[in-house]
Amino acid sequence: MNAISPISWVRIGHLDDIPPRAARVVRTPAGDVAVFRTGTDEVFALKDRCPHGTGPLSNGIVHGRRVTCPLHGMVFDLTTGEAVGPETCSAATIPARVVDGMVELGGLDALGMAHG
Ligand code: FES
Repeated sequence: MNAISPISWVRIGHLDDIPPRAARVVRTPAGDVAVFRTGTDEVFALKDRCPHGTGPLSNGIVHGRRVTCPLHGMVFDLTTGEAVGPETCSAATIPARVVDGMVELGGLDALGMAHG
């Protein structure tokens, strides 16, 4: 039987470092991660590369729990990374949470994205 390792969390900054309905980029050795803050102070993280092309999702428009890619307007659900609508593609999600006002990303080591 394989043991399931607990997820490890990396603290990346204060929630207030991310404006509401916007995103900030966290640079990792495996690529950039877009960390989104919704209008209700939820946080979500996706790889900062639209699966449709190369659009930086961090420059997208955040509305509710969705983001619209700035290049061609595809909409992605921040909770799942799935495209909303007829397109079938998805952006890679990274676990994100807020603890005591600090934003943490999870599982970066499993993705080869841990900070050195
Ligand atoms: S690159 Fe994002 S919709 Fe085309």
